[in-house]
Amino acid sequence: MLPPARISPMNFPPELISFLKKSERIAILTGAGISAESGLNTFRDAQTGYWSQYRPEDLATPQAFTRDPKLVWDWYAMRRKKVAEASPNSGHFALVEMEKHVPNFTLITQNVDGYHRQAGSQNVLELHGNIQQVRCFDGCGIVKSWEESDDVPHCPKCGAYLRPDVVWFGESLPHDTLIAAHQATLACQAFFSIGTSGLVQPAASLAHTARQRGALVVEINLDPTPLTPSVDFALHGKSGEILPALVEAVFGGQ
Ligand code: OAD
Repeated sequence: MLPPARISPMNFPPELISFLKKSERIAILTGAGISAESGLNTFRDAQTGYWSQYRPEDLATPQAFTRDPKLVWDWYAMRRKKVAEASPNSGHFALVEMEKHVPNFTLITQNVDGYHRQAGSQNVLELHGNIQQVRCFDGCGIVKSWEESDDVPHCPKCGAYLRPDVVWFGESLPHDTLIAAHQATLACQAFFSIGTSGLVQPAASLAHTARQRGALVVEINLDPTPLTPSVDFALHGKSGEILPALVEAVFGGQ
């Protein structure tokens, strides 16, 4: 197989545009890169990624929360504050526009910032949870919206700690959400992997599943990733610039 052409974003290949014009089922996977232009940190970018400054096992595991709940709480509170101070960008809004033109559109995200829904996307699957919510650490079932608190709050039902309603390393993804993401991936004609390093499972396998089922796979990323050799089209650049131009090229004037 030939490697995917590295395409200048604003010079989209006609075969990509015509395929997308007639696609009725599109699935999208997004990662931290789509929110980078909003000013939020990614995880693995060399200078600014969280995991270049901190160790995930100190901040994003159940063991870390058991060891030092306040440290973990404060880190997520800091991230939640950044999310609240910033807002969705042109990449998020382009996907809102795309959804209006595609009968069967599923937006799968690894991001916990809630920006896709905030921008106006409707069919969103949040694989890694949402930083605007908390839930009981003991699993009594309580889920509620995050309220400002300096101390780690307690569950109103059972008194255990409340934790951010996000998925940590070593934890399972929400079952129904993952099933829905798989179904959309199996059914789609075109699959986009946008702003994700493709290193975290099970999200990373979705693009390969889509490809095995015959879907056209498109990657939008600043840089090549491990997925790049397997995609049909690799669009290298900022998602906040490429996505609006692509949506205009495919659906403009419709
Ligand atoms: P990463 O930080 O691993 O990857 C971000 C990707 O976005 C990189 O490939 C960048 O090249 C790309 N990128 C950065 N800015 C961009 C821009 N403006 N336009 C397009 N691409 C850009 O983030 P994720 O792949 O989302 O999980 O990480 C996956 C998971 O690992 C996260 O959900 C989180 C993390 O640990 C948990 O916390 C469970």
